[in-house]
Amino acid sequence: MNKKESILKVENLKVYFPVYSGFFRKVTGYIRALEKVSFEIKREEVVGIVGESGCGKSTLLKSITMLVPPTEGKIVFSYNKNSYVLNEVTYRELVELRPFIQIVFQDPFSSLNPRMRVWNLLSEPLQLHASLSRQDVKERVEEILVSVGLDPSHVYRFPHQFSGGERQRIAIARALILRPSLLLLDEPTSLMYHCRHRF
Ligand SMILES: Nc1ncnc2c1ncn2[C@@H]1O[C@H](COP(=O)(O)OP(=O)(O)OP(=O)(O)O)[C@@H](O)[C@H]1O
Ligand SMILES: [Mg+2]
Repeated sequence: MNKKESILKVENLKVYFPVYSGFFRKVTGYIRALEKVSFEIKREEVVGIVGESGCGKSTLLKSITMLVPPTEGKIVFSYNKNSYVLNEVTYRELVELRPFIQIVFQDPFSSLNPRMRVWNLLSEPLQLHASLSRQDVKERVEEILVSVGLDPSHVYRFPHQFSGGERQRIAIARALILRPSLLLLDEPTSLMYHCRHRF
């Protein structure tokens, strides 16, 4: 595989959040969270984004995953020798591409459904995006739990039955289970601390 192959290109990305005020909630201004951001990530590259609090790091990651749609600019994701402008593709294409771009949020506690057991949290992405037999799903769930340093026998526990660091590992396992080609980690230093033997 060509290591120099581009996997993500962000071109002149702008994300503005409208500011509403007054009785009629009129748009009176914009928060310019991202202003003309451009960079490229190649296959097998690890890129860090550093900046002060509120400078737009989380917004950038949410925008790459289309959770926050860009106001202007392009997000080009390359997969299987094809390039897709994520903010221009059809909804159907976006649904097909989503499994290949995974994100671990800055606050993984709020991204794990407290009513779902670890088994459901980890098997759900596989059932949605990969056609695997129940036995294969079970094996993949066990394998990923071991790889993030969790005990596979705890698979029927709920998120609140784990420590904070263990919960972060569940969020990492959920992002990794689909074997994505692009992994986005918000605040990776704290995530790496909790998984320091594995990264
Ligand atoms: N949904 C939203 N609506 C309005 N403004 C928002 C929204 N999300 C983020 N912002 C604003 O956009 C700016 C960038 O926020 P963001 O969360 O991306 O910062 P950050 O770099 O991740 O900060 P931190 O290091 O504290 O996590 C901030 O001024 C924030 O208040
Ligand atoms: Mg942030």
